[in-house]
Amino acid sequence: MNQISKKLPAYDVEAIRQDFPVLNQQVRGKQLVYLDNAATSQKPKAVIDSIVQYYENDNANIHRGVHTLSERATLSYENSRKKVQAFLNADSHKEIVFTRGATEAINLVANAFAEKLSAGDEVLITAMEHHSNIVPWQMLCEKTGAELKVAPINAQGELIVEEFAALISKKTKFAAISHMSNALGTINPIKQLIDLLHQYDIPVLIDGAQAIPHISVDVQALDCEFYVFSGHKLYAPTGIGALYGKMEQLEQMSAYQGGGDMISVVTFDKTVYNKVPYKFEAGTPNIAGTIGLGAAIDYVSRIGIDAIAAHENSLLAYAVEQSQRIEKLTIIGTAEQKGAIMSFVLDGIHPHDIGTMMDHQGIAVRAGHHCAMPVMDFFGVPATARASFAMYNTHQEVDALMAGIENLIEMFG
Ligand code: ALA
Repeated sequence: MNQISKKLPAYDVEAIRQDFPVLNQQVRGKQLVYLDNAATSQKPKAVIDSIVQYYENDNANIHRGVHTLSERATLSYENSRKKVQAFLNADSHKEIVFTRGATEAINLVANAFAEKLSAGDEVLITAMEHHSNIVPWQMLCEKTGAELKVAPINAQGELIVEEFAALISKKTKFAAISHMSNALGTINPIKQLIDLLHQYDIPVLIDGAQAIPHISVDVQALDCEFYVFSGHKLYAPTGIGALYGKMEQLEQMSAYQGGGDMISVVTFDKTVYNKVPYKFEAGTPNIAGTIGLGAAIDYVSRIGIDAIAAHENSLLAYAVEQSQRIEKLTIIGTAEQKGAIMSFVLDGIHPHDIGTMMDHQGIAVRAGHHCAMPVMDFFGVPATARASFAMYNTHQEVDALMAGIENLIEMFG
């Protein structure tokens, strides 16, 4: 056999760590172990540098000036839109609307659908949604008289697909589903769900806030009407995110906020709105954040989302295996299809105490309801502790997590 097999470079986690300056510090006298990536991930130097470069060299408002700095800023801003388009494999960069994050993107869509729904209609979500994919739909239902239907999950934290399907009817006018649960790590079979919904021509929004740094997304293959995500979980700054919408949907939707840049002509009698996507981007946007998002996408794409996911999955598998020796530890969320999140409780120790005591050992985990109170209710816990992994975490950090948990169990007796 003369074929030369093309060997992929090995995943070099130590080299990746060098790109994240924040990781190189001590907290409470211990090397920082940052395992709160589902709340927000750290930023590589390339992202930080892109923001510094913008403020040091190109800072100007976009779409408004003919001067050089404004042209440069506009070019970088619009280049980021093309990077998001490529990252999601959207058909056109015009299908990408910049928002403050996934939350604002969901609110934008819910606001537009208020005109299309009325009493007797239904909106379908799942029992594992983040508050940001519950509350905007509740507000929409309050405004229109529509009813919110919630598809249940099982004891592993998986969506019960048959029950989801049973809730779909001619009354269902919209569905919103999380791609990956931030509280449990569950990855939903979204393609299957989208296909089910499309049998009834129901538009669907996928909340990709948690999935985006872990799963490669192709909105054309998924065929979803909307896909939203936040930059800050994808190694980009906070306060920037994106809404993907199919052009025919965006074109039918009314504007979200009024102001500069979203108009083409304003008189006191009438305003003519700008074209999609600008119609949805009122006011001066987060230009630096958008440029940072573009840099984060470049960075992640260079390493490769599949390579990142494989590394994170091996960390999760190792953490789950190691946690089995700790009798008092119960993992909340054991779905077969799961991303790199380990939510857990310890017998007799409140999750908030776990969070505090782990911090004393230099280990950052989140303790709380993770903006998913209904998930906590379902599992009958007030909160969980959550370790969530990113591309720069290591197996040694998993060891530190386990040792930290064992220490605190000993301290609490
Ligand atoms: N939604 C974020 C989390 O899961 C803040 O922590």
